[in-house]
Amino acid sequence: MNGAEEEKKENKQVKSKKRVADHGEVFTADREVNAMLDLVKQETERIDSRFLEPACGDGNFLTEVLRRKLAVVDSRYGKSQLEWERYAVIAVSSIYGVDILEDNANECRKRLFNIFNERYTTLFSVKCKEECFRTVKFLLSRNILWGDALDFTNPETKKPIVFSEWSPVNGTMLKRRDYIFRFLVEKTHQFTLFNDEGEPAAIDEPVKDFPLVHFLKLGEDDAN
Ligand SMILES: C[S@@+](CC[C@H](N)C(=O)[O-])C[C@H]1O[C@@H](n2cnc3c(N)ncnc32)[C@H](O)[C@@H]1O
Repeated sequence: MNGAEEEKKENKQVKSKKRVADHGEVFTADREVNAMLDLVKQETERIDSRFLEPACGDGNFLTEVLRRKLAVVDSRYGKSQLEWERYAVIAVSSIYGVDILEDNANECRKRLFNIFNERYTTLFSVKCKEECFRTVKFLLSRNILWGDALDFTNPETKKPIVFSEWSPVNGTMLKRRDYIFRFLVEKTHQFTLFNDEGEPAAIDEPVKDFPLVHFLKLGEDDAN
């Protein structure tokens, strides 16, 4: 655990009375986080298992999930940098969160990045690749969103929350498909959404489909 994480662990579970009253913001303590995650221990240690927390706060659960997944990546792939990078990216890509408070979403992203950064630099120090940091930052920018999980929109823009599904293909490539969060949750909207071509799309159809991209090229341009 890095210094910032240790400091966070010592922090109180409540930031202010107003935030508790307005948003029910009481962070879960470490012990409860671990006890709850232990109920699905196998999933927390499966590198590509998908976790979505719809009121993620600043990430007490998601950071622990990433820590557990990366421990598995370390033990299995720590000897090969490219393999470690590939699987660490898959671990990050399968973690999702939403919070109604923008500072929480930002902090959650930052904590997840710090956990990745700490493991990566400890293992590979000067051999760490800028592209890999960029990929992870890009994934976190797409996966940890500022949004209202009750009305499924961004509180400011009122635009729908859109999540990206990341699927590894042929080892080093990633496939991105975007889905509207509301439609993933509310099955009643099954045939009311439209795809890129303006055709009615089923609930399990993406609203946008992206070309395959090498996992170290993610975020290189706007196209992916
Ligand atoms: C009880 S705290 C739990 C935070 C985190 N899950 C944890 O266990 O530490 C509840 C969180 O839900 C967020 N929240 C409240 N209403 C929300 C909504 N409609 N959509 C998304 N997040 C919401 C709050 O900002 C707060 O971070």
